[in-house]
This record gives sequence, C-alpha cells and structure tokens, in this order.
Amino acid sequence: MRDRFIDQKRRGRPLATLTAADYPTARLLDGAGLDLILVGDSLGMVELGYVDTTEVTLEDMLHHTRAVRRGVTRTPLAADLPYRTYDTPAQALATARDLMEAGADLVKLEGGVSHLPQVRALLEAGIPLIGHIGMLPQSVREEGGYKKKGRTPEQARALMDDGLALDAAGVTAIVIEDVVASVAADISRRVACPTIGIGSGSGCDGQILVTADLIGAFPWFRPPFAQARADVAGEIERAVSEYVAAVRAG
Ligand code: KIV
Repeated sequence: MRDRFIDQKRRGRPLATLTAADYPTARLLDGAGLDLILVGDSLGMVELGYVDTTEVTLEDMLHHTRAVRRGVTRTPLAADLPYRTYDTPAQALATARDLMEAGADLVKLEGGVSHLPQVRALLEAGIPLIGHIGMLPQSVREEGGYKKKGRTPEQARALMDDGLALDAAGVTAIVIEDVVASVAADISRRVACPTIGIGSGSGCDGQILVTADLIGAFPWFRPPFAQARADVAGEIERAVSEYVAAVRAG
C-alpha cells in the first residue's frame, strides 16, 4: 500500500480522500474514485452526538467500520484507533487487529515521535498504518481546545521530527491536521510518503474532509477550513416540513 501511495505522490496526483461512517455514504463514496475512505473517529461527533472524539469507543469504531466495509469494494479503507486504545504497543496491536477484522485495510493513529513504539509494532506485524500529526482531536481536553499547530519555530521543528520519524518507520501516509500551511508544505517536501492535509493548506500531497462537513449534514459546527458544497441538513428540514404539511393536509 505504501509503495502505491508513494508512486502516486511521485506522479504528482493529489490524493482525494473523505470519511464515511455508514453504509449508504460508503457506497456513494466508493463509486466516486476517491483514493482512500476513512472511518474517522470524528463519527463520534457528527454521527453519535458526542462532545468530542475522546468519548468514542472501540465498539463504536468496529460497528461503523463493519457498516462502511459493506459499502466499499474498490477504495482502500482506513479506520481510526480510538482514544486510549493504543497506549502501549500490545494494546495498539490488539485494537488494530480488531479493526482489520471488522474490515479495515489499514488503520490510523494520532501522534508522531511520542507513539513510535506503537507505530513500529503495527508495521512489524504487517498492518499498514496512516500517521496523524498536528492538531490532534483526541488531545482536545488536555490542550484545552482545538489549536492550530506550527505557529512557533519549536512547534514547526517538532512537527517536522514527527513527520520524518513516521515516514522513516514506513507509514503509508501522514494526515496533517490544522497546521500552518508553510510548515505542512515543508514536511510534505521532506517525506517520501504522501501527506494528507486537513486545514493545512494546499502544499500537502492530498486532502481529507469529514464528509458531513463537505455535504452540510452537521450544521451545528463546521471547522472554518471546511467548505460545504451541499446543504443536506437544509434539504432534510425542507423534505420533513413538506411531509408534515402533506400528512396534516390529509
Ligand atoms: O476522525 C477523522 O475524521 C479524522 C480526519 C478528520 C482526518 O481523523
């Protein structure tokens, strides 16, 4: 998988990737020619109504990964290791194996240098892995909010170290979330594997969005960098009020 993604980066073809959490969305996305579909733990917020992703359980992820797998036959499918399920290499391995059994082709975890033992354990076990650096949603409570990364030279250096370490370990790709664009572009130039940006500028080798943000299905919160290209929430409201009116009209 890594070789294929590196080859795509070398050919200069940006990776177009999105999240999915349910069967119909997965089926629609699978027909759209994406390079990767991610069962992201953001589903905890946009599907399950949790406050943040730290509430997502492994059971949640397995349930949604199975549903998405039923709809995806062509596109590589990744799934997130949820919060506190990869504190040690052995725990990471057990969690990743469960997700692979549920249908994931590869898994993703948040962290760089801090999680190298876990990263190496998964890669040595032959489990393809996507890294995730920058603003890490699973750290939102420790950090006291969602804060852009790479604003100081120290942060930029630490992010570069994270990117280089993950790449040297052999990850398939690295998600770079909410990082200053010039820093994300620098990392993208230095690593062999593709970077997949979210809120980190156009210098990454590909992009990912939470599909609910792209289609306007979660109107209560949308990150500023996510452009909604549809208004699914508005369409649901319109259809439901038309239906209510029709039923009451008899
Ligand atoms: O959980 C998720 O959806 C993600 C993407 C935003 C990268 O990790």
